[in-house]
Amino acid sequence: MKWYRINGIPNIANFSGAHHQIFTVKVLEDSICVLLKNQKIYAFREECPHAGKSMLHSRCGVEEEITCLSHNFRFSLVDGRCTNNNEGYRLKLLKTKIEENGDILIEF
Ligand code: FES
Repeated sequence: MKWYRINGIPNIANFSGAHHQIFTVKVLEDSICVLLKNQKIYAFREECPHAGKSMLHSRCGVEEEITCLSHNFRFSLVDGRCTNNNEGYRLKLLKTKIEENGDILIEF
């Protein structure tokens, strides 16, 4: 595993409560979603673990979950588990960190 710097992401201080935004970035050849929410950064593979649709246009509420709009499966942003289906689907979460200069890194 290695840390990759990503560019073009706005300041997370602007994202609190239910206000959020999702971006896609390329890390190596993979498409990764970056979610800014509650002044935190989450990163996960763009492909939904259920049927492979894009997670880019997912919905978030105030809780630490994300809902894929293709079939409305909800995933925990803490451990990736699907919270409204027990068939074992799990969102692949990636570690993130912010450096002192504000740069965002994803472990991949
Ligand atoms: S593809 Fe995401 S819930 Fe089915």
